[in-house]
Amino acid sequence: MCLQSRLGLVILLVYVSPVQVGVSSTGSLSLQVGVSYTVSLSLSRRLGSVAAMGNLIKVLGKDLENCPHFFLDFENAQPTEAETAVWNQVSAVLEEAHGILAELQSYNGAGQEIREAIQNPGDLQLQEKAWNAVCPLVAKLKRFYEFSLRLENALRSLLEALTSPPYAPMQHLEREQALAKQFAEILHFTLSFDELKMTNPAIQNDFSYYRRTISRNRLNNQQLEAENEVNNEMANRMSLFYAEATPMLKTLSNATTKFVSENKTLPIEDTTDCLSTMACVCRVMLETPEYRCRFTNTDTMLFCMRVMVGVIILYDHVHPVGAFAKTSKIDMKGCIKVLKEQPSNSVEGLLNALRYTTRHLNDDSTSKQIRALLQ
Ligand SMILES: *[C@@H]1O[C@H](CO)[C@@H](O)[C@H](O)[C@H]1NC(C)=O
Ligand SMILES: *[C@@H]1O[C@H](CO)[C@@H](O)[C@H](O)[C@H]1NC(C)=O
Repeated sequence: MCLQSRLGLVILLVYVSPVQVGVSSTGSLSLQVGVSYTVSLSLSRRLGSVAAMGNLIKVLGKDLENCPHFFLDFENAQPTEAETAVWNQVSAVLEEAHGILAELQSYNGAGQEIREAIQNPGDLQLQEKAWNAVCPLVAKLKRFYEFSLRLENALRSLLEALTSPPYAPMQHLEREQALAKQFAEILHFTLSFDELKMTNPAIQNDFSYYRRTISRNRLNNQQLEAENEVNNEMANRMSLFYAEATPMLKTLSNATTKFVSENKTLPIEDTTDCLSTMACVCRVMLETPEYRCRFTNTDTMLFCMRVMVGVIILYDHVHPVGAFAKTSKIDMKGCIKVLKEQPSNSVEGLLNALRYTTRHLNDDSTSKQIRALLQ
């Protein structure tokens, strides 16, 4: 266990009670704090004097305050009764997420048909062929877009649940692990979706061909049946959506910003603390071997990394000074380091997301060290 978390436990002893202390035959001390803090620490000779410890507690108190050390069960968390209503609602949305990703993954586009139609403007058959290829694709794009709206609503319900008084963000994440897991799943989906969208230029190409064709035909007074499927207003909104480099993430960060600004009684920190706490929980789980080895599925590591990056980006978009400033409640250095320790092919996309989809990385307030780490 790393030094930091060992000290973290000492502080927990001070603040949380009742605490059960037991000494095992191997000489390690195990503490049971409440139900979910099950932790063990070696009796550390290095922590010799109480005075020295006092100083360390002062130094690390801030970290613990922002950064609880607990295992969030991303694999098995089940909803408690209090979570059930929101959980069911979000679950209905998440059930479709897998299908959406599969559909996007296999989205091949109508590049060839469009090219041929454009090169032979007089060939009506080729025009029709391109149109017939594009229409079902646009229907797909509409489904994706509509899904983003449902995801936005799901996120809103989760934010409401995870920030509602009287609990602090950390208590929420601990008590409502099944909702925290769903929040993580939304972020995981979001980053996966955007990664696929970013590497698929056919999407915007198909959609703009569709729009050009419609407006040309409108000029020629031709009515197209497909226009009923995607009316002009819908097409405008879809255009804005697909014009974003990372449309799903932008949807979520817009929704989070809106949630924060609409709710005047809820301090913005309650929402951003929920995000920074989540980032921290992920980081600690990734860098702590005792937690890491509790994941039975190797994909959970990747899941955890995606979620960490997702909440960092959201935080950076929603928080007035962002994730990279000194006052940020996210330990950006620690988060980037933990990513860089992984095989580069699995994290390059995530590091790029931090480089190119955050808002405050290039602010003057970002330390040189953090910028260098992301170079
Ligand atoms: C503001 O947030 C609180 C706590 O989540 C919630 O109970 C209340 O309904 C919200 N109000 C609005 C106007 O959204
Ligand atoms: C996010 O909000 C901005 C500003 O209101 C808007 O221009 C943009 O289209 C929105 N993006 C998405 C994906 O909702």
